Amino acid sequence: MTREVFAAAAIFIAALSCTPDQGNPAAEAEQGLDYCARQTARTLSQIRPAGYMLSPKNIAPGDSTWNLYPVSKELWTEGFWPGILWYDYEYTSDKDILAAAEEYTGALEFISTIPAYDHDLGFVIFCSYGNGYRLTGKEEYKKVILETADRLASLYNPAVGTILSWPREVENFGGHNTIMDNMINLEMLFWAAENGGRPEYADIARSHADTTMKYNFRPDGTSYHVAVYDPASGKHIRSCTHQGYSDDSMWARGQAWGIYGYTMCYRYTHDSKYLDFACRITDTYLSRLPEDMVPYWDFDDPGIPDVSRDASAAAVVASALIELSGYVPGDKGAGYLAAARKMLDSLYDNYRGGEACPAFLMHSTGHRPAGTEIDYAIIYADYYYIEALLRLKDKGM
Ligand code: GLY
Repeated sequence: MTREVFAAAAIFIAALSCTPDQGNPAAEAEQGLDYCARQTARTLSQIRPAGYMLSPKNIAPGDSTWNLYPVSKELWTEGFWPGILWYDYEYTSDKDILAAAEEYTGALEFISTIPAYDHDLGFVIFCSYGNGYRLTGKEEYKKVILETADRLASLYNPAVGTILSWPREVENFGGHNTIMDNMINLEMLFWAAENGGRPEYADIARSHADTTMKYNFRPDGTSYHVAVYDPASGKHIRSCTHQGYSDDSMWARGQAWGIYGYTMCYRYTHDSKYLDFACRITDTYLSRLPEDMVPYWDFDDPGIPDVSRDASAAAVVASALIELSGYVPGDKGAGYLAAARKMLDSLYDNYRGGEACPAFLMHSTGHRPAGTEIDYAIIYADYYYIEALLRLKDKGM
């Protein structure tokens, strides 16, 4: 064992030995949620004059204004801002935030009426309309979700057993491609199957999760970003990366999507295979974290520690672990909750935008190999951060 591995193991054991009754989780969560409410109000006053068809995506290092992008079928991040508004409304009950959540959500309705462009339909529609329906019960929101689930299911290839994540990349990858991020979009299919959509969508989601488990992971529990298949025979061709350091590395956000995705699969199926798998890939992730619990963008970048972090991965994992801790009994579950709280503390103490920047969190990495969004504030980090805080608040009650 190297010194680094010993150090990481010590951190993991420290997280496991930290009991959740140290400090008050609800008070911790409320401190974070109050901060998020202030930042949400700042962002809203900054961007609302530009209109609801422009979506905040990122803030460059040192900047204090959101870069806005027109909503379009290509903008996979456009569901997160309405999702943040719904979560903030859930916490504050502020009617102006509700009005904004409705407007920004409504701007995305067109997604349910056009052919599926890629798998990100779940990110776009379930973060916006999904939260909107959960909080308001509006039938028109449900209709949009169910229609978008139909579109997402149209990308399923039964020969492979997965959704085609990026139709536009088939030629580039040399086949049907399925990426780790796609795990998150299964939630809309599971939900649709239970809420008036086609029941077989749950089978599609399970098949996708099972196939991803087989071909997007290595025996040590680390993940590949992409698996490529022959679209006709369904045969696996290769596994590789797109946004990670190398084909053999563990891209931090990819692993985070996996942890969140398999935890969610267990919520819908109660199949212990998903729970066991979520624990396994979580343990791999936790055992290799740096001391402050926020990963470098890729765990295997040889430039560590002089490379960018990914606060978004930490936020996704924190949210997932709060849920996972509720499914795992005893010390192990308590350890997951303690680890999530340490992640949230670290994000609050050292990664928050604060006065300088209206984002909740700074220091995420979007697509380092492409040279984009390196050390940026990115909207999805904020979405999973506020979600994690709400989950923690519920735990403390
Ligand atoms: N879904 C794309 C990403 O995680 O960057």
